[in-house]
Amino acid sequence: MSPNRIYLPLSQLLQLPQLLLLLGCLVASTRGTCNVCNTVNNLTCYSSTQMQACQPDVLSTATPTDCPSGYVCVSGSSGVLCEPQDSASGSQADCQECNTCDSTQTFACTGTQSFALCLGTPTVQDSVGTCASGYVCNINDTQICGLPADGVMATCSYADDTTTSTTTTSTTAATPSTGSASTYCAAVQSQGKYAVGYNADTTCRQYIYCTLVGGSWVGQTYTCPGAMYFNSSSKMCVTSMPSTCSTSAPTPATTTVAPTTSNPAAYCQAMQSEGYYPVGTDASTTCRQYIYCFLNGGSWSGNMYTCAGNLYYNSASKICVSSLPSTCSTTVASLTLNGVVLD
Ligand SMILES: *[C@@H]1O[C@H](CO)[C@@H](O)[C@H](O)[C@H]1NC(C)=O
Ligand SMILES: *[C@@H]1O[C@H](CO)[C@@H](O)[C@H](O)[C@H]1NC(C)=O
Ligand SMILES: *[C@@H]1O[C@H](CO)[C@@H](O)[C@H](O)[C@H]1NC(C)=O
Repeated sequence: MSPNRIYLPLSQLLQLPQLLLLLGCLVASTRGTCNVCNTVNNLTCYSSTQMQACQPDVLSTATPTDCPSGYVCVSGSSGVLCEPQDSASGSQADCQECNTCDSTQTFACTGTQSFALCLGTPTVQDSVGTCASGYVCNINDTQICGLPADGVMATCSYADDTTTSTTTTSTTAATPSTGSASTYCAAVQSQGKYAVGYNADTTCRQYIYCTLVGGSWVGQTYTCPGAMYFNSSSKMCVTSMPSTCSTSAPTPATTTVAPTTSNPAAYCQAMQSEGYYPVGTDASTTCRQYIYCFLNGGSWSGNMYTCAGNLYYNSASKICVSSLPSTCSTTVASLTLNGVVLD
């Protein structure tokens, strides 16, 4: 039986939001202490298997110490200790909330200074958010990113911060061509492969590959080999025609337009799923807007809406709310969703 299990009367169980909040607090108090200095012995868990000397509210630069093999770092009422991994006392290693959605299912910290949207699900989405300079991502922070000097420590371990190495894609079988691909990539500003259009005979067989070369976004259009189609979900060339391709419809004029949020059809083509999506992070403008994506005769379409009055769009609850969502905080520097920049 889990030591954290709690029993509540049925009437309270029905109050799901409160229950989730309570569970969230329990989780935070037991595991959300990565990089937080434990003043009992002035040590912190640097990772789930490493401890580090520290001072309260100061980002430690001390060299981390490894726990013995089979032991994990645990921050508790007796200070930070290395405890046996499988101890029956239920010692739960610290620094394990990286890549986990927060209790409101709004975001997950993916690095000490980065996060991703969860869109009201327990799953981390294909999304890249960055904290403003000097700020760190904390799963328990109402503004996503906070300052270590204010006592907000990174939820992810600095040990896991890796410089994302760009994977080179196999383009051997594809035929490069020029066009507006580089303009497209300059607008997308995210490395990856993007669908070009919906025409089963032409654009559905192509994709644009965007990559950063010497600080500039460069794009090239490739055609899948043989009679293959580009699958925008798996980002691979496939033999069966994706449902988004159409043999009858003429190629929409929007095919080579970058999927920005001001271009709902292209944005929804990138989302590839019916539903409501956020537009941006600017508290006074884009934070009040949302886009509804839907399939329209085999092509993705979208409509943009603005919340009534002074309300903001909440990407997790998918409703217009009066409180400023955490994604709209000034502590957030940038955010993308499925490769589309949310301004
Ligand atoms: C989480 O938030 C609560 C309430 O704001 C705070 O008391 C707690 O210290 C926070 N925990 C972490 C790990 O940031
Ligand atoms: C922890 O560090 C603080 C600030 O440097 C110091 O005042 C305190 O005595 C230290 N506590 C222990 C147990 O070493
Ligand atoms: C496209 O890729 C997705 C994800 O891998 C897969 O589920 C789907 O069946 C693929 N579609 C086609 C037409 O191959």
